[in-house]
Amino acid sequence: MRAAVFTEYGPPSVVTVTNYPIPSPAKNEVRVKVATTAVTAADSRIRAANFPKGFGMLARLIFGIRAPRRTVLGAVFAGVVDAVGAEVTDFAVGDRVCGMTGAKFGAHADYVCAKVTKVAAIPEPVADDQAAGILFGGTTALTYLRDKAAVTPGTTVLVNGGSGAVGTNAIQLARHYGAHVTAVTSTGNVQLMRDLGAEQVIDYTTTELKTISNQFDVVFDAVGNITIESGRRMLTSDGVLLLAVASLGQTLKAHGKVKAGPASERAADFTTLLELAAHRELRAVIDSSYPLADIATAHARVDTGRKVGNVLVTM
Ligand SMILES: NC(=O)c1ccc[n+]([C@@H]2O[C@H](COP(=O)([O-])OP(=O)(O)OC[C@H]3O[C@@H](n4cnc5c(N)ncnc54)[C@H](OP(=O)(O)O)[C@@H]3O)[C@@H](O)[C@H]2O)c1
Repeated sequence: MRAAVFTEYGPPSVVTVTNYPIPSPAKNEVRVKVATTAVTAADSRIRAANFPKGFGMLARLIFGIRAPRRTVLGAVFAGVVDAVGAEVTDFAVGDRVCGMTGAKFGAHADYVCAKVTKVAAIPEPVADDQAAGILFGGTTALTYLRDKAAVTPGTTVLVNGGSGAVGTNAIQLARHYGAHVTAVTSTGNVQLMRDLGAEQVIDYTTTELKTISNQFDVVFDAVGNITIESGRRMLTSDGVLLLAVASLGQTLKAHGKVKAGPASERAADFTTLLELAAHRELRAVIDSSYPLADIATAHARVDTGRKVGNVLVTM
């Protein structure tokens, strides 16, 4: 099969498309013929060994000290089940599914294997690009807004980085839970923020974050430029600070009303997101889409830090 392989950390050009063995599913896995995958911020970080401050050594222990241990990136996929493991009963060959691969990655390929606990059926009205686009940012937004902050109707939420994969989902999910959303973005994305449901939009090119005098029940940072101290200044007295991008130091200090850490990857959450998509309450914003042969260009687009929503790769 074709796979996008990288054998050294570095710029987008370290990723090349080569022949690779088709993986075999373990007993609790399905193998999926990938139709659409995405190049996410996680793929870009691992390829470049560019981890949040303080996490470098820990991340290299996980992903490979001198060179990557997992040479095929790709954390999300949508496609069709092609083979099932011996103990799989929930899925059959031919099912349209999407899912995530956790720290195994491997979805930047014609075929990927994934545990059934990280695979969900795609409802009929949801297209592959929407399914593949929703999972990365959607699971992060769900973990933080629903599970860590328990957003309810009337909650005021500031989403910093409203135009990224995480932010575009966070705005829509916060609105779905009845919150009043303020999004922080740059000038070109102001209208998109409103279209996704933000009532207020702050253009960070004209208004510095430190000058914001409003106080919010929830501040959700999907950029990494809000410190615990600066975040607290923007919160109500019992407000919650959500740091989707946190240094090791911030992560160690995150307790009580300050939350950080990895997002969950659960099939039940994928189904929640897909049902919302099927009912047009949630949509994946697509920045751009590339054929597998151009995946290095897709990485370069993600590396700009300016993508709007998701960068997809079609097989
Ligand atoms: N904790 C977890 O489990 C978890 C899970 C997923 C992602 N993450 C992390 O979350 C971060 C966001 O991920 P993502 O996929 O959403 O990234 P992304 O899509 O690459 O974010 C790009 C967006 O960020 C916006 N942006 C850049 N600088 C900004 C600023 N100063 N203020 C406001 N917006 C700004 C850009 O908009 P403009 O062009 O308008 O600036 C762009 O649209 C990444 O660092 C990722 O590693 C963490």
